[in-house]
Amino acid sequence: MWRHAPLHIALVILLALAVFFLIRVRSAASATVEPSGVSEGHRLAEAWCENCHAVERHVLEMPNEPPSFQAIANQHGITPLSLKVFFRTSHKDMPNLIIGPHQADALASYILSLKNR
Ligand code: HEC
Repeated sequence: MWRHAPLHIALVILLALAVFFLIRVRSAASATVEPSGVSEGHRLAEAWCENCHAVERHVLEMPNEPPSFQAIANQHGITPLSLKVFFRTSHKDMPNLIIGPHQADALASYILSLKNR
């Protein structure tokens, strides 16, 4: 019986490794469902931007109102970088919010998540 012990141990280790990688792969897959920061960006948008912008998907835009975030997301040439550059400037009527780099990432992820596919 004991003669086979090393083989058993090797098998157990192999099995443990297989389970470990299976779990890693699955959690990596579920993490890609929502790009990081989207829900945080949503929260920030509701707190800071909703007074002026429609921050939710499918909200009808009012004439003479600032563009909705969905409309912004669908604009040609909008990228996370262009949004973050924009956040560093102050725009008309918009209070000069201090948006930290992490918050800018989250807001940009949220806005771009509204893009029509
Ligand atoms: C006090 C009102 C107000 C608030 C609050 C406000 N905005 Fe704006 N925003 C505007 C107006 C007005 C415009 C359009 C005129 C302009 O671009 O200067 C605009 C334009 C923008 C644009 C550019 C749209 C384009 O056409 O390129 C972005 C991006 C934007 N806002 C993001 C935000 C984000 C993110 C927040 C919250 C952190 C925010 N805004 C809060 C009034 C506001």
